[in-house]
Amino acid sequence: MAKLLPVDTFDLTIFGGTGDLAMRKLLPALYHRDRDGQITADSRIIAAGRSELGRKDYLGLVEQALRSNLANGEFDAAHWQIFRNRIEYVQSDALAHDEWHAVAGALSGREHCVRVFYLATAPSLFGPIAQGLRNNGLVTETSRIVLEKPLGRDFETAFQINTDVGECFTENQIYRIDHYLGKETVQNLLALRFGNSLFEPLWRRGAIDHVQITVAEDLGVGNRIEFYDRIGALRDMVQNHMLQLLCLTAMEAPSSLHHDAVRDEKIKVLRALRPIDGELVRSNTVRGQYAAGAIQDKTVAGYSEELESSASATETFVALKVEIDNWRWSNVPFYLRTGKRLKNKHSEIVIQFQDVPHSIFPEQKYNVVPNRLTIRLQPDEGVKLLVMAKEPGPGGFDLRPVSLDLSFEETFGIRYPDAYERLLMEVLRGNPALFMRRDEVESAWRWIDSIIDGWDESRQKVESYVSGSWGPTAASVLLDRDGRAWHPES
Ligand code: BG6
Repeated sequence: MAKLLPVDTFDLTIFGGTGDLAMRKLLPALYHRDRDGQITADSRIIAAGRSELGRKDYLGLVEQALRSNLANGEFDAAHWQIFRNRIEYVQSDALAHDEWHAVAGALSGREHCVRVFYLATAPSLFGPIAQGLRNNGLVTETSRIVLEKPLGRDFETAFQINTDVGECFTENQIYRIDHYLGKETVQNLLALRFGNSLFEPLWRRGAIDHVQITVAEDLGVGNRIEFYDRIGALRDMVQNHMLQLLCLTAMEAPSSLHHDAVRDEKIKVLRALRPIDGELVRSNTVRGQYAAGAIQDKTVAGYSEELESSASATETFVALKVEIDNWRWSNVPFYLRTGKRLKNKHSEIVIQFQDVPHSIFPEQKYNVVPNRLTIRLQPDEGVKLLVMAKEPGPGGFDLRPVSLDLSFEETFGIRYPDAYERLLMEVLRGNPALFMRRDEVESAWRWIDSIIDGWDESRQKVESYVSGSWGPTAASVLLDRDGRAWHPES
């Protein structure tokens, strides 16, 4: 197991301390890190929220959340008695100018500690909270601010947030979270690509036919429907998670793991994305919305029934054909798809290699399948390489595709930490490598904005798909047209 080094003593203030993210992700992640001994005894978690709660009430909520959000057997009552000592609650309304004394009071006298302000709030509060922190003299040299997604809803709003927060914190103090970058398997992509010399010579046009990136979920939109209906899958998943996966797959080797070295390479990919606008919007994008259906034999309602309105044209599914205009990837399309209420939850990156240039097995013509490297992000994380092998036996020469299959769980045999555990520790250590730099976020928005404008101008239809399927037929047609097909989950 990788070595766990304790982080310096900190004060972590969570704005939105009673919210869903704090309860479902942040506090369970901190609990795990604390239990593994990474958090010093005098570090503190200060939850700030508008609710009128005493510390005891708040601790009651946290205990309940840990009990229900930690996996079976992970809640340890004895450790809870230790962890709860690190938690405080302050009532504070970030928009009320005279309400900062509670937060200021909680932090006073602790200027020597690393200070992290985690904004698990609506993005419209990012600017005001940053200004409140600055105006109340709470930003020290070792302060950092963490911004949760969505970072705006287009280039303009993202630019404004970045500018407002940038007036109060330096770029190196701003940590823009994309939790996909905290996933072990996403980091493994770096290990696979740059810790092995095997793949690099083949990681390009000439050897690779195309790349597929799928992030499929079986869940629907659930109780976020009102928020989601203003956002849709393109903004919710593609602008951030999918583009980050694409960048890590497509970028050149950085000169080191230094945060700016990695981010400099990612931004080059974003800048090389061919804009999808004009006619390309119609030909290279598919939008879908789930209708009623069944997931694992359970009947589920459609999006419009959940929303109680059939008027919404919000997409819950997107498929894109993306081209990267540079030497490495010229004419190697990247097909992206993501959606809710698909057949099951699975995310993977598939590198489809080219066919053999000449087959010496003419009678096997149709059996020779091109090699395929699948990087499974979730569930059942691992890497799989499809190769052709001869079927054992004395007669004939029968070929069959077989998999060289590496399951990370079997190999390493440990619990996979949640992405937030890793990301929170990186913030506390002051390492922004796994966070998005301002230029990355803004570049991604510019590219996404042109698709959204194209959809608006062309009034591109949102295709309906049955819940429990792999999305609308148009998504299959997108590849079929190029003589390709989505790979079934591996
Ligand atoms: C979030 C999106 O960023 O990622 C959600 O807002 C989505 O809509 C979630 O469900 C998926 O994350 P994961 O880690 O479950 O793949």
